[in-house]
Amino acid sequence: MSKKSKSRFPFDVVVIGGLGHVGLPLGLIFAKEGLKTCLTDIDSVKAGLVKRGIMPFIEYGAQPILKNVLKNGKLAVSLDLKSVSKGKYIIIALGTPIDEYLNPKTRVFLEIFLKLKKYLRRDQVIIVRSTVYPHTCQQILKILGGSANSWRIAYCPERIVQGYAVKELEELPQIVSGMTAEAVDEAAKLFGLISPKIIKTSIEEAELVKLFSNSWRYIQFAVTNQFYMIARDFGVDYNKVRQAMTEGYGRTATLPTAGFAAGPCLLKDTMQLVAFSSDNFVLGHAAMLVNEGLPNFLVNKLRQKHDLSKTKIGILGMTFKADIDDIRDSLSYKLGKILRFHGAKVYYSDEFAKDCTFVSKEKLLKSSDIIIIGVPHSAYKVLKIPRGKKVIDLWGIVKK
Ligand SMILES: NC(=O)c1ccc[n+]([C@@H]2O[C@H](COP(=O)([O-])OP(=O)(O)OC[C@H]3O[C@@H](n4cnc5c(N)ncnc54)[C@H](O)[C@@H]3O)[C@@H](O)[C@H]2O)c1
Repeated sequence: MSKKSKSRFPFDVVVIGGLGHVGLPLGLIFAKEGLKTCLTDIDSVKAGLVKRGIMPFIEYGAQPILKNVLKNGKLAVSLDLKSVSKGKYIIIALGTPIDEYLNPKTRVFLEIFLKLKKYLRRDQVIIVRSTVYPHTCQQILKILGGSANSWRIAYCPERIVQGYAVKELEELPQIVSGMTAEAVDEAAKLFGLISPKIIKTSIEEAELVKLFSNSWRYIQFAVTNQFYMIARDFGVDYNKVRQAMTEGYGRTATLPTAGFAAGPCLLKDTMQLVAFSSDNFVLGHAAMLVNEGLPNFLVNKLRQKHDLSKTKIGILGMTFKADIDDIRDSLSYKLGKILRFHGAKVYYSDEFAKDCTFVSKEKLLKSSDIIIIGVPHSAYKVLKIPRGKKVIDLWGIVKK
């Protein structure tokens, strides 16, 4: 794999799901390190963009790296699964969603290995990067056949925060686990090229590290959101309470601001842990009820004072997180849906996400009686709110 050594493989690294939010930045960083990298995916639209040097989504710092690695021939894009036969390290960065009943959808993820099987060889290293339901690596082995020693299967979960992978991949310690010592050594060798520190664990430990981390974050958001609801019911400004709680007081310093806790990972991974613990992870369920209930709480509060059928409401910020363009599982949409159900005229606007039904920020501010901040994009720090408009700003981002 070294930049100089000869290998039978045309690629050092092949990333399956290579054009996704995890696969693409990871592939770019390996290519930047000089490894010949192939991004394999099924999305021809994203493939077309990436081949032309255009990032298909916001990932800070990625655009110039993409241009460079295309120019120096370190990066290739493929829509053909056969490309897995050409790489030494095969990284799986596919989505691992839950279904409408909040159960992990493991079948689709595992079925990819049925398709990959005929292209895989035992001298390759298979690295699972997706966040998986515990025991998934054992299931992969079952599908591939043979004993643990006959394959080199590693689990190295991704821990970046979306939008900032380029920076964080080179800063965060990397969890490395594997089904054999050889798999661990190989994966550690690969990630040692980009990560400042390797932390070795068993596969079971690594599976829990990832699920516990996301559940922990999700629960922290639920705590602050529940505090927000209690404060509002009490007629008290939660942001002032939080400020007073945390100022110069280390023990509460990590209390996040209130706000929608959404996106494709936190709820999903908390629910994976709920399912794994036979529905006994009561804190996980409670966090889901609080976080997913926040839009309903806001609407109920508004209904106490306004006839929503006569009210125009603008939601500023439709992505699931600030300063990115990803709308996956954003609670702004849930909020809009409930408001419309109660008869409100609802406008949507966003700084990054594009949709022909959205209106400009200026039009939204002018046309709405009530403005709700859906996500704290930095641009909202300097919003000029026209006189007489009511603003609901959980994050406290808009200057009063
Ligand atoms: N998004 C994050 O910030 C983040 C952070 C840490 C971990 N994760 C985990 O990483 C995994 C991937 O998440 P994501 O956000 O990158 O998802 P994503 O949807 O952005 O990316 C998945 C990619 O896989 C591709 N794909 C789907 N089926 C395919 C197939 N059969 N063959 C090849 N490619 C296929 C899709 O086209 C897409 O480009 C999930 O398990 C997620 O929980 C995500």
